[in-house]
Amino acid sequence: MENLSRVFGAGEAAVRACDRINLTIQPGEYCAIMGQSGSGKSTLMNIISCLDRPTSGRYWLDGTDVSTVGKTRLTRLRNRKLGFVFQRYELLPNLTALENVILPMMYAGVGRGSRRRRAEAALTHMGLANRMDKRPPQLSGGQQQRVAIARAIVNQPVLLLADEPTGALDYSTGKLVLEALANVNRELGSTTAVITHNAGIAAMADRVVTMRSGEIIRIDRNEKKVTPSELEW
Ligand SMILES: Nc1ncnc2c1ncn2[C@@H]1O[C@H](COP(=O)(O)OP(=O)(O)OP(=O)(O)O)[C@@H](O)[C@H]1O
Ligand SMILES: [Mg+2]
Repeated sequence: MENLSRVFGAGEAAVRACDRINLTIQPGEYCAIMGQSGSGKSTLMNIISCLDRPTSGRYWLDGTDVSTVGKTRLTRLRNRKLGFVFQRYELLPNLTALENVILPMMYAGVGRGSRRRRAEAALTHMGLANRMDKRPPQLSGGQQQRVAIARAIVNQPVLLLADEPTGALDYSTGKLVLEALANVNRELGSTTAVITHNAGIAAMADRVVTMRSGEIIRIDRNEKKVTPSELEW
């Protein structure tokens, strides 16, 4: 992102939700974005997610200048390049865990045999080998979120995005989900950006970006990354 701004409204009432953002997320990096309510995190996330476009400045996703791309290509870019983990999982309740993970591969045109194989591998990686045929209502919150992570990584996205991924979970379940995210980053090398209010989560990241009033006010590199088992908040 280069000199990227997003302004809502005009004139007196204009809000600079993102204000001259300069940020490069490196391949393989685990990046946390922090800041108080209203600091512009979701606005920035929407732009990174290709759901919204900057008012000015530029954003490159894996080499493509997103600022100049039309709506249809933007959707395609989003499906092909990004994986999402939401606060409330957003799984389809009538599909099994396995079917939920298979779904994004159907959109991506992956063949039937490898769809199943890849979905099973991703769920096994999340410690859910014996839960694949269960539907979301039969799973705990932490299990559902791990299904969501499996779904997010199964197409090998260039960037995995999570907005408050533990926001709906209690302490110990949240910790399991963070462990799963950290493992995905460490073992599969997935580039990850997580939005969080939580300093404990940020301690696990390679870099912590802090926003205030739409601006990045500091970027800290964690010299010693905390592992999930050391995590306390
Ligand atoms: N669609 C919109 N129209 C007008 N103003 C908006 C819009 N979206 C966000 N804003 C404003 O932009 C600023 C940043 O909002 P944003 O949602 O990005 O904050 P946030 O850091 O995600 O906050 P939270 O932690 O509460 O989710 C706020 O002042 C907000 O009111
Ligand atoms: Mg927000």
